[in-house]
Amino acid sequence: MADMDGLKEAKQFYTDVPQKTEGFFLKGSNSLDWGMKNRLARIFNPKSGRTVMLAIDHGYFQGPTTGLERIDLNILPLTPYADTLMLTRGILRSIVPPSFSRSIVLRVSGGTSILKELSNEEIAVDIEDSLRLNVCAMAVQVFIGGEFEKESIINMTKMVDIGTRYGIPTLAVTAVGRDMARDARYFRLATRICAELGAHYVKTYYIDEGFETVCAACPVPIVMAGGKKQPAADALKMAYNAVQQGASGVDMGRNIFQAASPVAMIQAVRAVVHDNETPEKAFDLYNTLKNQEVG
Ligand code: R5P
Repeated sequence: MADMDGLKEAKQFYTDVPQKTEGFFLKGSNSLDWGMKNRLARIFNPKSGRTVMLAIDHGYFQGPTTGLERIDLNILPLTPYADTLMLTRGILRSIVPPSFSRSIVLRVSGGTSILKELSNEEIAVDIEDSLRLNVCAMAVQVFIGGEFEKESIINMTKMVDIGTRYGIPTLAVTAVGRDMARDARYFRLATRICAELGAHYVKTYYIDEGFETVCAACPVPIVMAGGKKQPAADALKMAYNAVQQGASGVDMGRNIFQAASPVAMIQAVRAVVHDNETPEKAFDLYNTLKNQEVG
């Protein structure tokens, strides 16, 4: 029965308390719609404003990469420590249990292999499948300066348009060809193009000089790509420098899953990203956790 008395007598309007209008915590994202923001808030931790993405999508162009031969055995134990898993739909459906409740960033570009020209990608996943898989963002490779530069940019803008229709953000992944200069000028160019054309956040490599200018010139969040495996201490230092210089987190693969102890490494990366831990202390943490595993 309808509560007519409750309606008549209701007094708790707090007419003297203005309704709160919260700004959204993420750089450049305040004008997005609710669904987009909600998805981004599942990728980026609203407390730290940062994310630890675990990238395990390498197989989409290079097959069973070292450390990813058995994702069920080697990667699933790391997932409780990742804010987000970045992967393909094939691995998601075949290996990741649907009870996994953290966010998913789905690799949606593809169509090439290491045996041919990598920049010749297309969109390789229908938006309906991204919706079915309940993903929080879609990742598209963008090859600025690459042979198929224009096509890869258009792949990204198409995903931005389709994703916007359904509230799914697009992550632009800046890919650097072997012969390209990896300097601040190049990364400012690449990341800015992606953001100007609508990417909701951008993944790019760390560079020793001028990374802060890359972050400053990009109006949306940047996540640092891990790149080739380095000694753990160096990878932690790189992640530390990146977030201190303006990155909103990391999207690391090989430097985590190819570490001597991947479970220890991802926790050390978390400390640097979410707790501003120094690289030295994070490396101590890495060694402590690694030794506990052995003991
Ligand atoms: C970029 O090309 C792909 O997304 C990679 O598979 C992945 O993101 C690379 O991660 P990392 O360089 O940290 O191994």
